[in-house]
Amino acid sequence: MQAKISKTVHSLGCVVAGVAAFLGQGSAMAADAQVNVICSVQAEWCNMISTVYARTTGTKINMSLKGSGEALAQLIAEKDNPKTDVWFGGTGDPHLQAGEQGLSMAYQSPTLTQLHPWAQQQAQQSGFKTVGIYSGPLGFGYNTELMAKKKLSIPKTWADLLKPEYKGEIQVANPASSGTAYTMIATLVQLMGEDKAFDYLKALHKNVSQYTRSGTGPIKAVARGETAISISFVHDGPGEKMQGFPVETITPSDGTGAEIGSMSLIKGSRNGDAAKKFYEWALTPAAQEMAVAAKQFQVSSNKNCKSDARIPDFKKIKFVNYDYAKYGASAERRRLISRWEKDVNSLPK
Ligand code: F6P
Repeated sequence: MQAKISKTVHSLGCVVAGVAAFLGQGSAMAADAQVNVICSVQAEWCNMISTVYARTTGTKINMSLKGSGEALAQLIAEKDNPKTDVWFGGTGDPHLQAGEQGLSMAYQSPTLTQLHPWAQQQAQQSGFKTVGIYSGPLGFGYNTELMAKKKLSIPKTWADLLKPEYKGEIQVANPASSGTAYTMIATLVQLMGEDKAFDYLKALHKNVSQYTRSGTGPIKAVARGETAISISFVHDGPGEKMQGFPVETITPSDGTGAEIGSMSLIKGSRNGDAAKKFYEWALTPAAQEMAVAAKQFQVSSNKNCKSDARIPDFKKIKFVNYDYAKYGASAERRRLISRWEKDVNSLPK
């Protein structure tokens, strides 16, 4: 009996000691560290990085999910008293605008040389106030079953989207809140010239049933059969397909744009050191490969990341020569969005 009691006391002690060692290790590593992150990619990816990072480092991540345009609006609003430490993901244009407006901090990561040239260029163009973490092309999503049922043909060019057969069948996001939709406007302006692009957007307006807040809203609506066609980043298609939805994507044969999804450290933030550690981690192959694990199929910016067959093959796509510096400039972005509000969004259908 005595032996049994002492054995029980011993094993309990081991467990307590183990837990204490674990807690001790966690708190020594983290020293109560926390990082406030605005995350502008899809929820599954945001959740995965915050859970894994917290578990492996002991640093708490307070994460809020916001579209690219909404994230920028929040950072502008909290400029004098920043509550955010890192802005993770979202299209690159508003990150460049944040840099220009003095909202983000210059930081040159030692990992930069491991990144693809487009990601390094994004950093250089901003005076190292942002960096590319992924890239992906803009195109169309469509619901194969709905298209067949409604006898609709698959759109292959931007001009195809204006066909009367698509009236009320297309969804795209609102460029004020969504970086995806702003990428579309900037792409069309570079492809057609500004006035022709706005004539095009006015004509497209007749076929659009809804301008959603988030850039991924339209392809989710396509997946669920709520609309036949979306204008979306094509890397957002495979994740929907993996859930069993009848979704395919295509890039327009007349040319398209690509985003440089970016990450920025916020100037004057409260947890600067912890933020830099998170930023460095987010540039590693191990962290970037979590995108595929979370069913996200952008091209990662670290050259050492494993590739995946579901990631769009850039070599097969015709691209416009997207001028990231020009379309990421504050005045240009604001001007194009307000022209869209005035000339397009205000029109009756
Ligand atoms: O997370 C998917 C994604 O398409 C990203 O690649 C992109 O940066 C982001 O959404 C853009 O979201 P939004 O258009 O809502 O700003």
